[in-house]
Amino acid sequence: MALADKDRIFTNLYGYQPWNLGAAQKRGDWDNTKALLEKGRDGIIQEMKDSGLRGRGGAGFPTGMKWSFMPKEPNPARPGFLVINADESEPGSCKDREIIRHDPHKLLEGALVAGFAMGARAAYIYIRGEYIREAETMFAARDEAYAAGLLGKNACGSGYDFDVFVHRGAGAYICGEETAMIESLEGKKGQPRLKPPFPAGAGLYGCPTTVNNVESIAVAPTILRRGASWFSSFGRENNKGTKLFQISGHVNKPCVVEEEMSIPFRELIEKHCGGIRGGWDNLLAVIPGGSSVPLVPGHEMIDVPMDFDGCKAVGSGLGTAAVIVMDKSTDIVRAISRLSYFYKHESCGQCTPCREGTGWMWRIMERLRTGDAAVEEIDMLQQVTKQVEGHTICALGDAAAWPIQGLIKHFRPELERRIADNVREAAE
Ligand SMILES: Cc1cc2nc3c(=O)[nH]c(=O)nc-3n(C[C@H](O)[C@H](O)[C@H](O)COP(=O)(O)O)c2cc1C
Ligand code: SF4
Repeated sequence: MALADKDRIFTNLYGYQPWNLGAAQKRGDWDNTKALLEKGRDGIIQEMKDSGLRGRGGAGFPTGMKWSFMPKEPNPARPGFLVINADESEPGSCKDREIIRHDPHKLLEGALVAGFAMGARAAYIYIRGEYIREAETMFAARDEAYAAGLLGKNACGSGYDFDVFVHRGAGAYICGEETAMIESLEGKKGQPRLKPPFPAGAGLYGCPTTVNNVESIAVAPTILRRGASWFSSFGRENNKGTKLFQISGHVNKPCVVEEEMSIPFRELIEKHCGGIRGGWDNLLAVIPGGSSVPLVPGHEMIDVPMDFDGCKAVGSGLGTAAVIVMDKSTDIVRAISRLSYFYKHESCGQCTPCREGTGWMWRIMERLRTGDAAVEEIDMLQQVTKQVEGHTICALGDAAAWPIQGLIKHFRPELERRIADNVREAAE
């Protein structure tokens, strides 16, 4: 099982060809987009539902269903908006960047098609602040599309007016959370809102809004051209389509690659990454979906189908499919402690359990790293993670708790060993 070249959506993922409009059109982008819009709002949404596409931003919410939550009747006083999440700040994630810098027209065409399907007036592409060159490409590609009449008034000759704005963030992980992104777009501090109301009811400027990940939007035109049944022929039930995997860490060739959903972990690594550094016996642990999901011990990961259900079955998650591979040279406690520092740093501070808990967790993690702790503190740390998890406004609290829970679940003996060694050294 492997994805054939003819079935790849992202045919310029590695930038071998130019990103510009002429080259994109040769690759098939913007090819009679008007005909796609002629399928009508309901037709497009039904096709997206049938394709089985689930959001590629981490949570895996069905994309077609999300679009269907937008109001059916236009209301000029409350226009709809599509917000495209290009914040990509999850440690390990680096796929949206490849789309933006090498295939920006796929995203722009997707914005029009998705925006039309949900009755939106405009799309805002919110780009991570550190993506400076990528933002430049996005601005330039948008200008090309406007000049060619593909966006703006009467976009693609469809009679539909649709604008796309590109907005640069300032480099805060929390602005990737959809309601924090909306706040930030409105010019406020990027802090998540309480839900409900959900964005489809009251989002950007209080108007109906849908937030989608870059990859979710960029695949839409190809799905509509090639058909829902083509897309859903890849992957397992409930886990359909092709997917961008980003494999980093201790593999021989780290890469970003489009593959069939549900490809077994071993096959993904062998085929595209030249295997594990030092061989399969040297594999220690894997974080399969970006830093927010729990780690999985290497031996449990080998045969896992790389999809939402496969990763869930081993107590983790597919997340953004940012696969972080760690071999036996890794100081696993230090690695997780570093992630704890990241979440402490990125907490927006609104909720007490997250603001205080992320600091607590990091400080205990640091002491466990050096062994300067009591064995009982391992359970205490577990308790702290439980007091944060599920008790906060947004999922950053959960994201801070889960890596530690994974560490305690699978590497408790290593934590105990460090404490014992420290006690022994102190006694000597
Ligand atoms: C702390 C935090 C950071 C997030 N960062 C991102 C991000 O960088 N990119 C992204 O697409 N989604 C991110 N999300 C998820 C978004 O809130 C949202 O679910 C997603 O953009 C929806 O898109 P989708 O339905 O296409 O997957 C983040 C969520 C949280 C809680
Ligand atoms: S969970 Fe953390 S990041 Fe999310 S809103 Fe609360 S304090 Fe802010």
